[in-house]
Amino acid sequence: MMKHPPIEHAASALDFEHPAADPIASFQRWFDSAHEQTKLPNPNAMSVATIDPDGRPSVRVVLCRGIDARGIVFHTNRESRKGEALRAHPRACANFHWDPLDRQVRIEGRVEHTTEAESDAYWASRPRENRVNAIASQQSRPIGTRAALEAAVREVEERFAGKDIPRPPHWGGFRIVPDRIEFWQGHKHRLHDRMAYLRTGEGEWTVTRLCP
Ligand SMILES: Cc1cc2nc3c(=O)[nH]c(=O)nc-3n(C[C@H](O)[C@H](O)[C@H](O)COP(=O)(O)O)c2cc1C
Repeated sequence: MMKHPPIEHAASALDFEHPAADPIASFQRWFDSAHEQTKLPNPNAMSVATIDPDGRPSVRVVLCRGIDARGIVFHTNRESRKGEALRAHPRACANFHWDPLDRQVRIEGRVEHTTEAESDAYWASRPRENRVNAIASQQSRPIGTRAALEAAVREVEERFAGKDIPRPPHWGGFRIVPDRIEFWQGHKHRLHDRMAYLRTGEGEWTVTRLCP
């Protein structure tokens, strides 16, 4: 696997000496380059860490489905383990790692629900089978066998036969509203570039270069 390819990826490189003012725009640039310049099957995959009600950290991979000035969005079952964690502690940390580009981004912040309209639009964009399975699966709850899961899927299929499948109220998007964004660009012999943006109370970003 090609590593440290600064020439090939110069177009999407960030200037760590003269950092851009808006880290979300810089993140978008790296996110886009991960789609355009790699063959990763899920360049939008991110690990999202949360804190369980008892203070225990947990992390899982989800897909980033939206980026804008407000933050980054993923969709899930809000009654899942992560959903319960976010109800107790509405903060999360997302981490992207694009190995072929030797890049990592860490995004931290409070978490809010996406609007009903955003959740509805994403739900409507999913294939019917995904919507059926999302309803049948009580995400993160125990289930005895695969046969039981498949029976739950059949039950949902029968219940909605010939009908539209509405989004269940517990299924929707979460938005991480960033107050800290860190960029990491790998270099030879571990002399990597790092910089962290912090959002002040007034909404302005300040940036600090960090040792690797
Ligand atoms: C590549 C990949 C993408 C995934 N995307 C999602 C996603 O967008 N939403 C989701 O709820 N789970 C997704 N999952 C499953 C989660 O990793 C996790 O198993 C599930 O959400 C339950 O997590 P929890 O028990 O911590 O709530 C994905 C898993 C992988 C490996």
